[in-house]
Amino acid sequence: MQTNGLQTLFTGQQVTVFKTVESTNTCLSNLLSQQRLPEGAVIMADEQTSGRGLANERWLSEAGKNLLMSVVFYPSFLSTQNLFMLSKAFSLGVYDCVKDLLTNSSENKFVKIKWPNDIYVGDKKLCGMLIENSIRNPNVNHTVLGIGLNVNEEDFPVALQNPVSLKMILGKELEMIACFTALCNALESRYLQLKAGHADQINEEYVSALFRFGEFHEYESNHGRFKAKLTAVADDGKIFLKRETGLIEKYDFKEVKFIF
Ligand code: BTN
Repeated sequence: MQTNGLQTLFTGQQVTVFKTVESTNTCLSNLLSQQRLPEGAVIMADEQTSGRGLANERWLSEAGKNLLMSVVFYPSFLSTQNLFMLSKAFSLGVYDCVKDLLTNSSENKFVKIKWPNDIYVGDKKLCGMLIENSIRNPNVNHTVLGIGLNVNEEDFPVALQNPVSLKMILGKELEMIACFTALCNALESRYLQLKAGHADQINEEYVSALFRFGEFHEYESNHGRFKAKLTAVADDGKIFLKRETGLIEKYDFKEVKFIF
């Protein structure tokens, strides 16, 4: 694979491309259970037969149209209490990359991170991330970062709530390889920022890139719908939602849904 423009030390320096796999995350995790791969090694595929999303959802993607990849990192510098920092750093990496790819688009200013780690453009989902950590107490042994970035797909299954692709936004097809190199460059830069101890900067930028931060919107929990404002993200990754009454509640990913 020609990767001109790749400016990384390790991310994307070793890439294995498959036509079809079950899931790039599963494939990479299976490989890691048999051998140690260099940090930044990537598994990519044109198509997944069982692409996986958050909360046991399936990840659907038309063959050959989108970027489906998984990357291994060894964040041994992170303790398990700080795992959500990885989610923040990688979300910012994808966010930076998308902002860059949409530089000349009027939609650029609508790029946001929807908690915990989706990339949205306006009210539409452009990219999802599945981060799977292997723990060796008290630290993280390895992390598999799976990314599904909608690049050239235009006909999404109706079952998907609000998908969008770069092609739909820009009105032109994009080179997959250009997206891949931009993504690897941006991910590594944020990962190294975290590794260098700049968590404060990452925290600050993550919050300012958050979708619907500080605004009242509808949410849904087990107890029904309510209006609230996202006011903060805790170190464990849970969000704080403040109701109009002033009541503040903390929610985990599985406990609350954004209503559109
Ligand atoms: C989500 O938003 O629910 C996360 C979706 C993550 C999808 C990507 S596609 C590449 C990698 N392999 C998978 O099986 N899942 C991730």
